[in-house]
Amino acid sequence: MQDPVFSLLDVERSYELRQPGWFRRDTRKLKALDGVRLELQRGDTLALVGESGSGKSTLVRLMLGLEAASDGRVLYGQHDLSRLDAEGKRRFAREVAFIYQNARGSMNPRMRIADILAEPIRLHGLCAEGDIPARVAALLDRVGLPVGMLQRFPGELSGGQVRRVAIARALAAEPGVIMADESVAGLDVSVQAQVLNLLRELCRESGITLVFITHDLGVASYLCEKIAVLYLGRIVEQGPTGAILNAPRHPYTRALLRAFPRFDTPIEASLKGEIPSPVDLPKGCRFAGRCAQVKPECREIDPVLAALDADRQVACLFPVMTP
Ligand SMILES: Nc1ncnc2c1ncn2[C@@H]1O[C@H](COP(=O)(O)OP(=O)(O)O)[C@@H](O)[C@H]1O
Ligand SMILES: [Mg+2]
Repeated sequence: MQDPVFSLLDVERSYELRQPGWFRRDTRKLKALDGVRLELQRGDTLALVGESGSGKSTLVRLMLGLEAASDGRVLYGQHDLSRLDAEGKRRFAREVAFIYQNARGSMNPRMRIADILAEPIRLHGLCAEGDIPARVAALLDRVGLPVGMLQRFPGELSGGQVRRVAIARALAAEPGVIMADESVAGLDVSVQAQVLNLLRELCRESGITLVFITHDLGVASYLCEKIAVLYLGRIVEQGPTGAILNAPRHPYTRALLRAFPRFDTPIEASLKGEIPSPVDLPKGCRFAGRCAQVKPECREIDPVLAALDADRQVACLFPVMTP
């Protein structure tokens, strides 16, 4: 087997929260990620799902090298992301692209679409200056937009068109990996479907590795072959999309599916029961307080993500046996 594209080895990311008042010296730590284990193979399409605040965006920021892990390691291929040299960073920036949640806000409103798309090509020196216009036109065509749009400004485009431009810009450097944070949230359902279709086609055609954050299980199952479920900063279950949706093994995943049985229901709202504060995680399993099948051991032992069978992993002392 090839090396994974990304490996996350017990990754932790904590933020120091400063207490109000200059005399308070103690700072408290919020664990946004805690013991995250993840391997991404080339060509994987992975959905990160979980309630709001579970750590999805933080995880992607770490994988993009925008933030460093407080503990543990994030490997890209065999290289530690925090130790890339200048050449390694350049390669990484070219090979791993990001589609911003706020596509419009990520574009300079005073730049024409042609220039927005030319920028990464020029930055990475991907072709001769004279060949850039043809390359930009091809990119626009690839995301199904007419060439006439090249001379427009972002403000003149619809929401769906702007997302397509954002995808085209992500594709400009011919990346092997694309990460996207809620890239279709807030779009009209029909426009959302078009953008999803486009992403799905691109991944299948080009073998792109995709990490897609969504709180919509329908979007996750349509677009991605694998799902990782986050709860309070930890991946609690991971595996093939169909298997997870049909037979969740973690009580949290099962609760999510019961509470949001329609696949097009966003899971941004919370389940019943109180989520512990990420500043004050309980001893033992972080889901114990809300778990329907909690046992005394669960209040003592913190379960890490471990293999259940060849392609399923779960962080639970007593995985659900029957769906
Ligand atoms: N820069 C930061 N400083 C302090 N806390 C943060 C910061 N970024 C994220 N958090 C906290 O980390 C947790 C995870 O956040 P996030 O990754 O944005 O979750 P999600 O994307 O799943 O909604 C939340 O409790 C959030 O408040
Ligand atoms: Mg987020």
